[in-house]
Amino acid sequence: GGQTKDLDDLVKRVDSGMDQGLLPVDVFCDDAVFRAEMVRIFGQCWVFLGHESEIPNAGDFVQRKIGLDSVIVTRDAENGINVMLNHCRHRGSELCHEDKGNTRHFKCPYHGWTYNLKGEFAGAPHFNDAYENFDRKEWGLKRAPKVDTFHGFIFASLSEDKTTLRDYLGNAAWALDAIVGLHPKGMRALGLPERFQVRADWKSGAENFCGDAYHVSTAHLSAGLTEFIPDVRQVSTIARGYEFDNGHSFIGHELTKWGPDFEMWAYPKEIREQFDLSRFDEVQIDMIKNAPPTIGTIFPNLSYLRFPQPATLGGRPVPFTMIRMWQPVAPGVMELWTWHFEYAFVSDEQAKEAYLAGQFGFGSGGIFEQDDTAVWEGIAKAAASPWNRRDGLMLHYQQKRGGPDPAWKGPGKFHKSIYGEYLQELFWRRWVKEMSNKDVHDRDMSAGEECSKETCK
Ligand code: FES
Ligand code: FE
Repeated sequence: GGQTKDLDDLVKRVDSGMDQGLLPVDVFCDDAVFRAEMVRIFGQCWVFLGHESEIPNAGDFVQRKIGLDSVIVTRDAENGINVMLNHCRHRGSELCHEDKGNTRHFKCPYHGWTYNLKGEFAGAPHFNDAYENFDRKEWGLKRAPKVDTFHGFIFASLSEDKTTLRDYLGNAAWALDAIVGLHPKGMRALGLPERFQVRADWKSGAENFCGDAYHVSTAHLSAGLTEFIPDVRQVSTIARGYEFDNGHSFIGHELTKWGPDFEMWAYPKEIREQFDLSRFDEVQIDMIKNAPPTIGTIFPNLSYLRFPQPATLGGRPVPFTMIRMWQPVAPGVMELWTWHFEYAFVSDEQAKEAYLAGQFGFGSGGIFEQDDTAVWEGIAKAAASPWNRRDGLMLHYQQKRGGPDPAWKGPGKFHKSIYGEYLQELFWRRWVKEMSNKDVHDRDMSAGEECSKETCK
């Protein structure tokens, strides 16, 4: 990639560019941008880590990521959820090398310091011979200052400010509630997330899922030609936009245009009948029935997808629920993490069918997924291009707009047409807001810049 000479100026140019529907391409692969994102965005925002159903019992744990940091998420004996930095306090080695498991403690592979499920220091080899005046309370693992859940979905934030998860989700919680809260028993994760690396920036995925239905008829044309979904050319025409606080947004689809069986994401009747809609307001119910949110992004890197697709070619459409993380790895490189979810009351057999349907479309070799990752890789290359960078290339965000629906009675804004790229603008305005937020941690980042200058030259 490259490194912008003046990061703050670039962030300002993203903001002023958006006034004219333009975006400097550099942001998709730039060392300074990436480093700042790790501090100002991933060091501040609430990020998704997993689901309670992945760690149901005391001692269960999973290893996850907050930006570049590996964290251990545990269930302790008091049923609490703990999020700890996966680095030993002795010399910093990584404690946990498993994706998932059950344990009573974490023992460091280097010298054997040991921590309990809450991250408290629990012991060390030759303790009495090796140490004196050792304050155990001082040497526990670093813990995320804020951890909370929404319908069992676990989030954490490294910021010590007062923003709660509910504040952060804002009115997007209204839509999320209607997506994951349809049944009192909640949802469950179907196995571990699938992971694979892509030479594309994390923002390409987040921005695509936040509002890009326009690409479907071209990038995913093959999905239509193989009759994988009913009418691929129509996917952007029947798309609607839901715009919420804090950069969160959803695309909805008027799936009933494909026939009455497609009501409520095309859940079969026996499943639909078990949903409890009594908690929801009229607008939510109308949304679920007629233009249910199918794709969306919770800023920064959590995305959602629920779409009716067959588990085999020619099979009946099965709605699957996928949670997607766009994990930053390096400038212009990300790892895709994909979880499948199903309502807890749904039988294993039906859950398996939904899993297969989701993987068929959006697994690493899925019919849709390969199309997207291939085109996003081009964006990172454009951002790294010396020619583009020399000329300060701007990308086009100028689709004609209709404006939000004045008759909308729900929270946020509703757009009857997905054309207009207003959801992408929402994403980038939020990005600017977070990237302009220089908190105390920026001191650490500038130290890093100097250090890398010395070692790199
Ligand atoms: Fe963990 Fe030494 S680095 S015990
Ligand atoms: Fe796509």
